[in-house]
Amino acid sequence: MTFFNLKEILSAEQISDRVIELAKKIDEDFAGQHIVLLCILKGSFIFIADLARAITVPVTIDFLGVQSYNGDTKSSGVVQITQDLTTSITGRNVIIVEDIVDTGLTIHYLINMLLTRNPKTLKICSLLYKPSKVIKPVNIDYIGFTINDLFVVGYGLDYKQYYRNFPGINILEKEENDSI
Ligand code: PRP
Repeated sequence: MTFFNLKEILSAEQISDRVIELAKKIDEDFAGQHIVLLCILKGSFIFIADLARAITVPVTIDFLGVQSYNGDTKSSGVVQITQDLTTSITGRNVIIVEDIVDTGLTIHYLINMLLTRNPKTLKICSLLYKPSKVIKPVNIDYIGFTINDLFVVGYGLDYKQYYRNFPGINILEKEENDSI
């Protein structure tokens, strides 16, 4: 495994400010109602932890294991469900929480799969959105930041499973010598 120097493009503070704005919008849209937040593993585990704590309407949280990148920088184009939900979403207000929508293949697959379970409403919230890479266009209800066509890591996003723990969003720069 080759490690890289990282260049931060969004700081933890910028992300935190935006997450609070997204939570406010969700609170307004679902005033007086309950929501199920779906954490799309693994990438959205940090985003959903912050988002859920900023939302004030009642929420429940469930987890869906999905993989399409196999730890690499290019989508395999094949979406695999590695872990299903443990609760029913039928008749519930559901928000899919993603760290990034890139080609749109994953979210497109998830929307179709989850609609068959008849939720009352189904919304999408993604911290990052890369419009230049979209193959399957999808309406995203809550977008944190629109970014250029860059491979990004940190705040839950990985390269070969590393860098998820970095507090900001970063691009990979030149290689360091270090390898394991
Ligand atoms: C990432 C990300 C999204 C998906 C977006 O998941 O979390 O689910 O890719 O890409 P797309 O729009 O091109 O489909 P990944 O397969 O890397 O798994 P991970 O969340 O476990 O890192």
